[in-house]
Amino acid sequence: MKPLAYTVLRWLADGEFHSGEALARAVDASRASVWNAVQEIEANGVEVYRIRGRGYRLAQPLSLLDAGALQRWLGESAPFSVEILNEAESTNTLLLERAREGAPHASVIAAEWQRAGRGRLNRPWHAGLAGALTFSVLWRFSQGAATLAGLSLAVGLALVRALEAFGVSGAGLKWPNDVVWRQRKLAGILIEMQGEALGPSAVVIGVGVNVRLSNALQTRIDQAAADVETLTGQPVDRNRLLAALLTEINRVLLEFERAGFAPLREDWQRRHVHQDCAVRVSLPGGSAESGLARGVGSDGALLLETAQGVKPIHSGDVSLRAVGRAA
Ligand code: ATP
Ligand code: BTN
Repeated sequence: MKPLAYTVLRWLADGEFHSGEALARAVDASRASVWNAVQEIEANGVEVYRIRGRGYRLAQPLSLLDAGALQRWLGESAPFSVEILNEAESTNTLLLERAREGAPHASVIAAEWQRAGRGRLNRPWHAGLAGALTFSVLWRFSQGAATLAGLSLAVGLALVRALEAFGVSGAGLKWPNDVVWRQRKLAGILIEMQGEALGPSAVVIGVGVNVRLSNALQTRIDQAAADVETLTGQPVDRNRLLAALLTEINRVLLEFERAGFAPLREDWQRRHVHQDCAVRVSLPGGSAESGLARGVGSDGALLLETAQGVKPIHSGDVSLRAVGRAA
């Protein structure tokens, strides 16, 4: 959307009526431009009511990202420097570019809208305008990429812990790094790295959390999805939720830097939705392996019990599906 549409959206976010005239004055544009901006907002899936004599009003108030509010929720001790954008192609792509240009450790980019959000394995990540949290965190590790196995599981655990503290009960982890609620995907993680296997590495941790999923968006996603507002039964303050997620990500990453995945393993396993279930793992190259998911190793590998014994499966380009519950 054009910058003006975001400015108009910020005025409308409170869910109150705003006349075309007052909006035009507030955003310093013509009434026709405001009308066009409202059209653009609607075209992006946000419902706007127009009532003659009263003006425009959103069907539901929106919680938009705001640097000041986010900082207040984060507090002084958080190491993050957060940039909030109206839109980006993909916050991961942008932060990877910034990392190459030398962006500092703990830089964060969050966007209200991604034109081309990316999931794992080149799959698309869908999110409505201001209806999700889509953000990326740059973490510079002194260790090489070779020691970062288990990192994506650690981040998944951070998300579940934060969501729980936020009032979402029953969220669990699907190996390697999906956050699910009753088999519905609530959040996804995309980790991308720069650096050598042994030298320091820059890691971009991309997180997408569904906050308010519209029916239209649900139908675009080719698997069952869940959202935080439905699970908590109340409107979500997205700045507060983002701060809670970042705080927990920071806590978990500090622990991961110190001791790897091992100290987080037990808690991860407690929330593992396929623990002791029959699963099928698709491997790169088209083959597959079936067995019982017996949890994860201290490096984050899935321990798959097969007829030939327990095999560690490393995350890479693999996909896991449940095939039934073990006896
Ligand atoms: P696996 O990694 O086991 O294959 P997955 O099917 O979730 O799990 P990922 O590559 O992790 O696959 O995630 C990308 C997928 O996420 C997309 O193919 C799409 O089905 C789904 N998806 C996209 N947007 C959303 C969303 N907002 N909420 C839930 N799921 C989504
Ligand atoms: C997945 O489940 O496959 C991972 C989804 C990751 C989505 C987030 S949204 C913010 C960041 N930018 C992206 O393009 N992707 C990640």
